[in-house]
Order: sequence, then structure tokens, then C-alpha cells
Amino acid sequence: MKRRILLGAAAMLAMSAGVSMAQDLPPLAQKDSYKVGFAQTESNNPWRIAQTKSFQDTAATCGWDLVMTDAGGSAAKQVADVDSMIAQGIEVLFLPPREESPLIPAVMRAKAAGIPTFLVDRSVDKAVATAGKDYVSFLGSDFIDQGKRVAEWVIANHEGEGKIIELEGTTGSSPANDRKKGFDDAIGADSRFTILESRSGDFARDEGRKVMETLLQAHPDVNIVYAHNDEMAIGAIQALEAAGRKPGEDVLVVSIDGTRDALQAIIDGKMGVTVESSPFFGPLACETMKRYAAGETIEPWVQVEDRIFTKENAAENLAGAY
Ligand code: AHR
Repeated sequence: MKRRILLGAAAMLAMSAGVSMAQDLPPLAQKDSYKVGFAQTESNNPWRIAQTKSFQDTAATCGWDLVMTDAGGSAAKQVADVDSMIAQGIEVLFLPPREESPLIPAVMRAKAAGIPTFLVDRSVDKAVATAGKDYVSFLGSDFIDQGKRVAEWVIANHEGEGKIIELEGTTGSSPANDRKKGFDDAIGADSRFTILESRSGDFARDEGRKVMETLLQAHPDVNIVYAHNDEMAIGAIQALEAAGRKPGEDVLVVSIDGTRDALQAIIDGKMGVTVESSPFFGPLACETMKRYAAGETIEPWVQVEDRIFTKENAAENLAGAY
């Protein structure tokens, strides 16, 4: 009781001084500029490049002195990058955790150093680290729903039996875990569909192509490919064409993201659908950080709404794609 009164008094003092304080999260003062860390996972696909650019473009308008790193596809390097940012004195951290568990110590160390952390696009294991306590909030899409929406589109648009190869994203990442769950649960409810095999292509085009080449030999009867992102879908299309198959005619290819190459593949009739996963986090990150600095309690999940791209609207959205 005493502790609650003390905390309440501290919160009122902090609010009157223009400093936010939600539960026991680190406070953030209202200022014109901040030293801000953005620790990127890798830069090997258009989605990541668009996300980085969105943070760079937002920096000037949001008063960010941006410290940026690229973990080059290594969770261990991303942890070291966050540690280095803490040592450099960042005041706010925006983090897309490459995988759900390995980045948790970095989140905890940022909090211990008094740095409010916002997870962007990817999340951590919620059983171990909690929004509103260990980090401020998760800003991002509903990955389970993305997978479910792809499955619902396949069920509505594919006639007859469906034999599916699933190309999973980075093992241990929240989009790979959730996009698998959303798709597998929904497609499993229709007895016409069987998942022949599901394997990681690490969200990368070339890895997706190589995995598809291997799985095509093991499962020549495949007639649907579900990729957890567009880059792997494009890699799968390359593997199918090299093997003399006709994506869009004898194999339906479906995925998630909404990249320019995927929209073009839909226009060319090689892909059926891509459910959007927006990489443009800069403006949302700025707005949420400012709300937090103003003393608002931020919701644990600031959800991003996603569109769906098919042959009905791919052409009209091509110019705005990345
Ligand atoms: O976390 C989002 C995913 O990460 C995107 O779908 C993918 O393209 C990226 O690498």
C-alpha cells in the first residue's frame, strides 16, 4: 500500500515535469530531439530495406538522432548491437527482434539502463517478456491473421485437392511461428488440403529457391506453395520454372508481404495472392514514442492493419510498392 502511494506520487511528479511513467517502465522526457536506436535484423530483402528507409525518412521530422545497426542475419550480433547502442547512450530503442527468445536479454538490459524499448514488426516470447513491464509496446501486424487470410483465400479459390509445400520464415521468429499457426489451423479445417512438407527458407529468396528445388524432387505432386514471405515465393517460382512447371497454372503460389516483385508476379499470373505486411513503421514509431513521452499509457499491442493484394487490385497498387 505504502509502495503504491509512493509510486503514485512519483508518477504525478513525473507527469507534472513532462516525463512519462507507465508502471515501472523507464520514463521518457518530452523534448525536441532524442538519440534513438534502431537495430535492424538484416538487409537482404526489399522488406527490410523499406523498413530501414522508413526509419531514416522519419528521423528528421521526429527529431531523431538515429543510431542504426544491421545484424546481418545473426541474433547474437543483434544482441551485441543493442548492447553497443546502450553504451552509446541512446534514449529510446526501436527493436525488431530477429528471433523470439535470444533478444530477450537485450530487451531486459535496455530496461535496466533506463531506456524505453518499442518492439517493431517482430515480437519476443510473451511468456518471458511482457509489454507494459519489460518493454513499452509491440507495434506490428497480426501474423496469425495474415496466415489465416492466405488459407481462407486458398480455400475459396482453389478447386479440388490441394497438396501444399510450406516455405517457413526464419526459425524461432514470431512471423514464422504465427504465420504457420494461422495458415495450418485454417487450411487443416478443410479436408481437401494436405501439407506435404514444411521447411524453413529463412525469409530469403535464394534460400527459398534452394529449398523449393529439394522439396520439388521429393513431392512432384505439389500443386500449392505457401511461402511465409514474398521473397521466398519468388524463389519458389524460379525453382518451379527451372523444373518445367508453370506457376499460376499447375501450381498456385501464395504468400505474405506485398512487395513490388510479388505484385508483378500476380499481374503476370504467376502468383495468386499476397496478404500485406507493411514495413513502413517510421511514422507509427514516432507517433507512439511521442504519446509515451507525453505520459500516455501505451496499449500493449499497437496493431497495424493489412490489406490483401490479388489480380483485382495488384496493378493499381504497383506504383506504391517497394
Ligand atoms: O517480420 C516481417 C518479415 O520479415 C517480413 O515478412 C519479411 O519479408 C521480413 O524479412
